[in-house]
Amino acid sequence: MNLTLKIWRQSNAQATGKMVDYKVTEISEHMSFLEMMDVLNEQLINNGEEPVAFDHDCREGICGMCSMFINGEAHGPDRGVTTCQLHMRMFKDGDTITIEPFRAKAFPVIKDLVVDRGSFDRIQHAGGYISVNTSGNTQDANGIPISKHAADEAMDAATCIGCGACVASCKNASAMLFVGAKVSQYALLPQGQVEAVDRVKNMVAQMDLEGFGNCTNTGACEVECPKGISLENIARMNREFLSANVKS
Ligand code: SF4
Ligand code: FES
Repeated sequence: MNLTLKIWRQSNAQATGKMVDYKVTEISEHMSFLEMMDVLNEQLINNGEEPVAFDHDCREGICGMCSMFINGEAHGPDRGVTTCQLHMRMFKDGDTITIEPFRAKAFPVIKDLVVDRGSFDRIQHAGGYISVNTSGNTQDANGIPISKHAADEAMDAATCIGCGACVASCKNASAMLFVGAKVSQYALLPQGQVEAVDRVKNMVAQMDLEGFGNCTNTGACEVECPKGISLENIARMNREFLSANVKS
């Protein structure tokens, strides 16, 4: 395939960015999207130009680093996949592909397609954990009975990889799907009950502090989430938040 790429170039956080056109040729449909970007970058380096900065790590859909907004969609046109799992067979010869960073006030651009998602880390630090006794008397997790249904739902919530596609897809740049997943994975388990009140209050407070918008139930986040995180997690977080404020 021969393709035209329109890519956001921005040399640093303070610079004014712009879209720049590039041509890539002989792209195999079997390549991943990031491999296609590697081909472009080799071409740019060979020509003495600055390669396009983009985030990636695992390249197998588990780290959540590969945040690209491709043809107007977070992680591109396929469903249930991250950018690193997107294959070039989803495009056709002669296509023009627009590639931008995830855009949100709380995800400032660092360079080109790389954004700072430290806001997600700070939300996690605010309450996305449980405290356990590590004195040697730690209870075996298997010693606490958990229903299959609750375990399955907690596991579904725990599959959130913190990629930020939900924020980038939302017209309000809301992080509520991400925070809902992180609150839910503990709210559904007995181990999460001890700190439940503080967890939801602190995580929601940090979310607001970071400048994310609120959910207005448009559902774009659920559609674009590569891990299929359900909107039910937002409803559960809202119930947890209400209950926490009644209790304290
Ligand atoms: S909820 Fe989905 S889209 Fe949002 S951070 Fe988690 S995995 Fe990514
Ligand atoms: S590079 Fe890890 S999820 Fe894409």
